[in-house]
Amino acid sequence: MTELIFATNNAHKLEEVQAIIGDKFAIKSLADIGCEDDIPETGETFQENARQKTDYLFAKYKLDCFGDDSGLEIDALNGEPGVYSARYSGSRDMEKNIDLVLERLEGKTHRAARFKTVISLFLNGKQHYFEGAIEGRIIAERRGGKGFGYDPIFIPEGYQQTFAEMSAEEKNTISHRAIAVQKLADFLVSG
Ligand code: IMP
Repeated sequence: MTELIFATNNAHKLEEVQAIIGDKFAIKSLADIGCEDDIPETGETFQENARQKTDYLFAKYKLDCFGDDSGLEIDALNGEPGVYSARYSGSRDMEKNIDLVLERLEGKTHRAARFKTVISLFLNGKQHYFEGAIEGRIIAERRGGKGFGYDPIFIPEGYQQTFAEMSAEEKNTISHRAIAVQKLADFLVSG
């Protein structure tokens, strides 16, 4: 079985990806290869950040690998928080990050937004990218207790519930991450 390193230590992400990809590839985490480095994420786009992860891993370990970067883009905030989604308020405290988004959107009626994921794959000496996006809007107050990040304030287009009100199964079939991972899986499995 071909080994592929996933630039993550998030066990949940790893399981989700392994389940979609099946048994053709054995997905290993950073911990599995003994990598404890803080891989830089200093790009201005999701693609640059995802690419930084695979460039770093390939330079150091010479192994085929992939990495992802995601975030929320809000039109009325010129695409913010974007690559700064995890620490928009200056801290990783998601309550503060959500408060800042809601404050900056106060009084605004145009509330269109999207979640995006970009995956960078380095395989057999070649660079590939896979993208997933889900359109929606930001509501004025939090709703729901499931999920993570900005889920309580995001309603996907065509739905009535926020991501935080949906079951994990429902969110995971329509999310930006699921779309990008499915494209990666289709590529790996058909290749
Ligand atoms: P990551 O690149 O997947 O770690 O995502 C970066 C940040 O974007 C997270 O810390 C969250 O704040 C936000 N984010 C990414 N995906 C989601 C999601 O599915 N729901 C809510 N927030 C998300």
